[in-house]
Amino acid sequence: MPSKNLIELKKICKTYHTGKISLTALNCINLTIKEGEFVAIMGPSGSGKSTLMNILGFLDVPSHGSYVFEGKKVKSFDEVSLADIRNKKVGFVFQSFYLLARMTALENVRLPLIYGDISDKEQVQKAENALKITGLGDRMEHNPNELSGGQQQRVAISRALVNEPKIIFADEPTGNLDSKSGKEIMEIFKKLNRDGNTIIMVTHDSKVASYAKRIIKLKDGEIISNKLNK
Ligand SMILES: Nc1ncnc2c1ncn2[C@@H]1O[C@H](COP(=O)(O)OP(=O)(O)OP(=O)(O)O)[C@@H](O)[C@H]1O
Ligand SMILES: [Mg+2]
Repeated sequence: MPSKNLIELKKICKTYHTGKISLTALNCINLTIKEGEFVAIMGPSGSGKSTLMNILGFLDVPSHGSYVFEGKKVKSFDEVSLADIRNKKVGFVFQSFYLLARMTALENVRLPLIYGDISDKEQVQKAENALKITGLGDRMEHNPNELSGGQQQRVAISRALVNEPKIIFADEPTGNLDSKSGKEIMEIFKKLNRDGNTIIMVTHDSKVASYAKRIIKLKDGEIISNKLNK
């Protein structure tokens, strides 16, 4: 059965204005991503990768163009529904792990759930489960400074997963890791994708990108290549 379009971008542009200078970070991007895809976005520094991710992940708005998510125009969403989507449908993983230092792994992972309407017990269960998925079942009570870089990134992935999001956005998720930990992180993403999660990842490392099923290359804010991998 062909899967549904999750994301449709038509002629998306993003221009930043800084003082008198305007800079076009994205220039007329057309892109469709289906449910269950694993996409890597590549390109040189400044080519617009993070800008594109932030728009895709509802963290920023385009200057022009149309973004249709699950068949609905994102422009028509109000702040409340946008906050709801950010909270429930997408999970983010960044190059820096952004964990809270004074909290345990379990507490960090539980954070996205505390404003929801599920019981404390259920919150802990979900957080424990998310940590088990990334192989950290035996490190739940550790604080970030008691974990290796790879383990901290696994906590961040668990936190991104805890709400069972449809899409995981990852911007250079292995950028701060040694190659062995990076490989472990990519194996986790691969498994998550096999289990049905859509993954959209920015990387400039072609080894990391090779885990994706499709590789999109950006240059100067334009898509210069969009190919299935293997
Ligand atoms: N908030 C901003 N205000 C002004 N210009 C910006 C802003 N954010 C990004 N830019 C500019 O937009 C362009 C694209 O930036 P972006 O962060 O998307 O690049 P990138 O491909 O993610 O690069 P990197 O690989 O270095 O992370 C760059 O030229 C950058 O200087
Ligand atoms: Mg970037």
